[in-house]
Amino acid sequence: MTDQRIDALSPGTFELDGRDVEFAPGDTILRAATRAGHYIPHLCWKPEYGPHGSCRVCTVKVNGRTGAACTVMAGAGQEVQSNTDELNAQRKTLLQMLFVEGNHFCPSCEKSGDCLLQATAYEVGMTGPHFEELYPSRPVDASHADVLLDLNRCILCGLCVRASATVDGKNVFAIDGHGIATRLIVNSPSGLLGDSALQVDDCAAHICPVGALLPKRRGFATPIGQRRFDISPVSQQVEKDAT
Ligand code: SF4
Ligand code: FES
Repeated sequence: MTDQRIDALSPGTFELDGRDVEFAPGDTILRAATRAGHYIPHLCWKPEYGPHGSCRVCTVKVNGRTGAACTVMAGAGQEVQSNTDELNAQRKTLLQMLFVEGNHFCPSCEKSGDCLLQATAYEVGMTGPHFEELYPSRPVDASHADVLLDLNRCILCGLCVRASATVDGKNVFAIDGHGIATRLIVNSPSGLLGDSALQVDDCAAHICPVGALLPKRRGFATPIGQRRFDISPVSQQVEKDAT
């Protein structure tokens, strides 16, 4: 058993950007930082779910080595860097790649102002896509009576997959394929959402951090200026209830 593994099994303190952060046994760096009210940019993690480690936006340096803060266990005495020019530049590049890899047209998207991808891009100072847009051809699945699935906006965070499996007990979603061909699929005879077991009150129907899965007939209900990230930036909305 390594020293870091032993440290992770006991409570202790690590340093995040020069501030002491307490952690509990079994905490990852992101979980402990979030509980302490410190923001580390992330897309595919929520406190209620285990780490997915797919977006890499939470990448930090731990004692000089890079790692995903949502998967690296906290250990006593670690020196963690997160809010540095180098790491934020890498995050901006990751976000720019996510934007051009899908079709994210914020001005016409009803998730605008409540979208974690958009808010995180603002947070790291992204002002344009930088890379050439791929404009992939992806379907919009409007077959469900109450929920829309727009794969143009999906960032493959896997949150709907985990929510459907672990909270709803339905396994409505899965991620299929590799590399640029990776995509979200629906578990139903036709592959369409309307034929699946998804119901509008399911956790999976509301967990999407972007506008890929949306309840129908609720769009643009919140006026501009009062939407979640109009009120304060994502870095000031740290999920303090992380357990
Ligand atoms: Fe994540 Fe939303 Fe795509 Fe599901 S539909 S994988 S929650 S971005
Ligand atoms: Fe850590 Fe996505 S939040 S990899």
